[in-house]
Amino acid sequence: MGYFRRNIEKAEGYEPGFQPKQADVVKLNTNENPYPPSPEVMKVLAEIGPEQLRRYPDPEGSAFRAAAAEVNGVQLEYIMCCNGGDELLTIALRAFCDERRPVAYPVPAYSLYPVLANLQNCKAIEIAFDNEFNLPAKLAASAASLTIVCNPNAPTGSFVSTSELASLAKEISGVLLIDEAYVDFAEENCVSLVKDFDNVIVLRSMSKGYSLAGLRFGYAIAQPGLIEGLMKVKDSYNVDAVAIAAATAAIKDQKYFRETVEKVKAERKRLTGQLRNLGFDVPDSSANFVLAKCKNRKAVEVYEKLKQQNIHIRYFTYPELKDKLRITIGTSEQNDKLLSALKEILSE
Ligand SMILES: Cc1ncc(COP(=O)(O)O)c(C=O)c1O
Repeated sequence: MGYFRRNIEKAEGYEPGFQPKQADVVKLNTNENPYPPSPEVMKVLAEIGPEQLRRYPDPEGSAFRAAAAEVNGVQLEYIMCCNGGDELLTIALRAFCDERRPVAYPVPAYSLYPVLANLQNCKAIEIAFDNEFNLPAKLAASAASLTIVCNPNAPTGSFVSTSELASLAKEISGVLLIDEAYVDFAEENCVSLVKDFDNVIVLRSMSKGYSLAGLRFGYAIAQPGLIEGLMKVKDSYNVDAVAIAAATAAIKDQKYFRETVEKVKAERKRLTGQLRNLGFDVPDSSANFVLAKCKNRKAVEVYEKLKQQNIHIRYFTYPELKDKLRITIGTSEQNDKLLSALKEILSE
């Protein structure tokens, strides 16, 4: 017998997107924001003193909770800081799921969900989206302890309306976690559901709209009863002092945030149009990436050829995604490089 629990021994683990070491690449593979974080963040980082490092951080990250509460129109007790949105997913699985308490989610979705379910040794009920990525009706009937809906969905970029998610929250008996990692690029969000339902948790990430993927910061929005339970599961000092200071500065600078998001949305519109002109099938996206279906070429070949030119996008081997490429929205210069490389590859 090995040292590990049986499910860990058998687990494959999550495969993160490729992180190239060189700086001179076009990196459109892990949905980072192509623009830098707010200058306010850099100012705060420059002012970090030894005392902030010597002492343990505020275990609850109250400065960030207060700022995030104000931005979202809720009270501080509705917010919990996390070491990236990913940590909230781990906390939720640990808090709500076990061998007898399954998790359910529509697929295709974020590939971390099944990995976490496996680590927690709970059943994962995967229900397929239809071709238009509508919320599957069967999701409500799954009787899962935790239901996760990624909205906007990854890797499709599709969006489910707040009213549909309100109906789902009403129908299910367990907890509904709405993974809004990409919501900064969408037209609406589900924060209002948190006020109406005691079983809804909204996940937010500072990695995408706020350009802080390297910092590792995210947060939960939920009614205080749920937040108190989740707090019992998190590490005591799950977010560090530097991250609390930087993330607080970022969320307070709403003007910079909105300007950056608008730039990404404008590029998303342009890239979508240009990819369609090149013959790709590209559904409208509500996120900072698009999912492009290759009609005349094998997606994996296009992916490999771009990689040879130091242009990195994401290719998934899952059956329903095998003919598709997920492309993060870059700066206009990066998107132009991608488009001209694609033109060349398609004309070969
Ligand atoms: C759907 C989804 N949820 C959550 C996350 C977690 O983001 P982070 O841990 O960087 O905040 C990601 C990251 O890519 C994601 O794609």
